[in-house]
Amino acid sequence: MKIIKDALAMQRAAFAEKQAGKTVGLVPTMGALHEGHLSLIRQARRENDRVVVSIFVNPAQFGPKEDLKKYPRPLKKDLALCRKEGVDYLFHPSPEMMYPQGYRTFVEVEGLSGLLCGRSRPGHFRGVATVVLKLFNLALPDTAYFGKKDFQQAVVIKRMAADLNLPVKIKALPIIREASGLALSSRNKYLKGKERASALVLNRALLLAKMLIRGGLREPKRLESRIKMLIEKEKQAKIDYIEIVDRATLEPVKKISAGTLVALAVQIGKTRLIDNMEAL
Ligand code: PAJ
Repeated sequence: MKIIKDALAMQRAAFAEKQAGKTVGLVPTMGALHEGHLSLIRQARRENDRVVVSIFVNPAQFGPKEDLKKYPRPLKKDLALCRKEGVDYLFHPSPEMMYPQGYRTFVEVEGLSGLLCGRSRPGHFRGVATVVLKLFNLALPDTAYFGKKDFQQAVVIKRMAADLNLPVKIKALPIIREASGLALSSRNKYLKGKERASALVLNRALLLAKMLIRGGLREPKRLESRIKMLIEKEKQAKIDYIEIVDRATLEPVKKISAGTLVALAVQIGKTRLIDNMEAL
């Protein structure tokens, strides 16, 4: 596995692979790799001649009061995992490499970026879209792999790729969960003591939603209030949003149907967690 820290070196390596007729799969991450990330890497490995994984804790997508400084960075462990999965290139740039002095350009995916997580995290998706476009320009992927855990992120990236005619296919893969039902996330590391048990309320809420929808419930407001009641029983949990939306537009739906997404953001202690489920 080649470890590359320099942007131009990454682009040159990717260009040489493309010249040689190789397909490239890219898995963008912020590191602290877990089975969710590994599922993306494995699919990229199966589908491409070359696999690039990027590890970059992107300052542009963190708000001023968010966890940029304390975000976990277990680089040695991450490198070992990538080696084990047969990754060809590990791209690990510094913030200065990605945003040198004088940096001025950002990508705004209008509308979509202001919904759901965008409401409580202004500027977040601007930072995500910007870094992902830069990573596409450096790794030159045929296919890039994202997780449905961050469903809105995948929708934003797909929109950006379509709108800007990017020559890359975007794949969004299923959410990987612990046996307990908790969706894997690098931020689960922040959960202390009893908070881990409290965090299970997100998955419980989605399971309740699934049961009610299977039972014929189609009225979003009623589903929302049932989910709200369940989450409010959990003392440590504070609801950021419960949204029942169209999975393409992320706009609230009037009636639950096959294209509906149930999306949650809940604060457990100081940790904000998200989860979602496709309704039918
Ligand atoms: P990060 O949170 O490290 O996630 C990297 C990728 O792994 C994302 O596409 C995310 O959706 C996916 N992922 C995380 N947990 C998952 C799970 N439990 N199951 C399946 N996939 C999961 O998302 C980011 O980094 C950043 O915003 C990034 C796209 C790298 C841009 O900085």
